Amino acid sequence: MLDIELVPCANVERATEIFLRGGFVAVEGVLAPEQLVYAQEGARRVVEEQTSATSFDKANRGYARYSFGQQVHHPEWAMLVDLPTILPIIGSIWDNDDFTATGAGGDYSLPGADVQHLHSDMRDPFNDPLQQVNIFDMPTPFIVVNYLMTEFAEVNGAIRFVPGTQRTRLRPPALEDEPEHWKRSIACAPAGTAIVRDVRCWHGGTPNRSDAARIMTSAGCCVGGSSIGRARSTSMRDPVDVFFYLRRLIGRLREMLAVSDSRLLLRQLLAALLMGNTAFWGGAWFIGSLMALLAILALGLVVGVRAVDYGGRVAWLSIFSILGGMIGALLGYLEGAFYALIWGILGLVANAGLGAIIWHRIERMHEATVMRSVNAIIGLCTMPVLVSLPLGFMGLIDLGYSDDVFGVMAFAAVLGAGIGFITGLRSVDSTTIDCSECGEANEIPADAPIGQYRCRFCADSLDERYAGDSGM
Ligand SMILES: [Fe+2]
Repeated sequence: MLDIELVPCANVERATEIFLRGGFVAVEGVLAPEQLVYAQEGARRVVEEQTSATSFDKANRGYARYSFGQQVHHPEWAMLVDLPTILPIIGSIWDNDDFTATGAGGDYSLPGADVQHLHSDMRDPFNDPLQQVNIFDMPTPFIVVNYLMTEFAEVNGAIRFVPGTQRTRLRPPALEDEPEHWKRSIACAPAGTAIVRDVRCWHGGTPNRSDAARIMTSAGCCVGGSSIGRARSTSMRDPVDVFFYLRRLIGRLREMLAVSDSRLLLRQLLAALLMGNTAFWGGAWFIGSLMALLAILALGLVVGVRAVDYGGRVAWLSIFSILGGMIGALLGYLEGAFYALIWGILGLVANAGLGAIIWHRIERMHEATVMRSVNAIIGLCTMPVLVSLPLGFMGLIDLGYSDDVFGVMAFAAVLGAGIGFITGLRSVDSTTIDCSECGEANEIPADAPIGQYRCRFCADSLDERYAGDSGM
């Protein structure tokens, strides 16, 4: 275990001295008791949401080890960005008050998580053509403050550090080449402690042998006001105001769906579209009322989302198979009962195969493409309603559209679907990261913490250079 000193947050000088020497410092008294409880409740809520959406074996940092990803939109994380008990320490480390928040996140491990290899959260971005300097020759440009939401002990997978490694040009060894004592170089501290760390200092997770979650949240900041690391971004933002409204709406919808894994969200939405459209056209045949159809579409949406959420791949394949079977049976019915049976079975099997292919394809899509697809589908589903319903109400209160209100609504709905779909497809700024393991290019969203994504070819974690969170 590491012998760490808990420095009171008011002792800025001592905290700075320890940070500059070792690459990190543990600070106490940063959060008031009620702030700690508030942050803990928020962290547990998000842990529950993420773990119910993503099983242990699919966790983004290895078995039962999760990175929160960007969470600054939650007030429990936003509170950590400008704490008056921490800012003077960061200002003193840089001897400069010009620094910028990069976001808030953190990570957690659950019972069963194994030891994590030592790593630095930053690699050299300069590639000096003269080969004279690299990022490890200079003071840190990026600091992350981790807030311990649970007590950190040897048994529950606390973080480990190799002090003093923040300025070395050497790279951390593989797990099997580490000296044994580095695996025990664990930072233990009570809940509420803040660990201010130079992200380059070598660190890693340890096995969680307890029966409870080990959680830490974080807030990060980089020196100066420039947005380093975004140079390769390509902006595709549409200046039209409706786009920003739509993005806010999409954000809200995504929160409501409580799904943090965008691939799962895409599967849910596709399944929902299938269920909704089937119900929609069935309803159109028999009812012929737009309002009733929208209600049926919404019902299909809920059923589709819930099915994939709870049933995973099995429910997804069932939805596709049943839909194929229904279409086959309907087509076969036109030629008689026997053909309905044969075509129904064929449709069922063919669609199950199609479903399996789509499921697999989603897994291999670039992260930015997944997000664009999600936004396009949400836009496609929501915009027709947003555009056509006000017209419907105007028609109902007889403001001059009553003659052909359904025609106007239908036209507006088609227009809205197009706008929603196109704005969704253009909604994500992307950046390209080459996987350090297999060299393949991965297109990921520009404004997200890079470290939370895995390579779509070899599943290795992508470069964490400018991660806004503190993923371990
Ligand atoms: Fe890390």
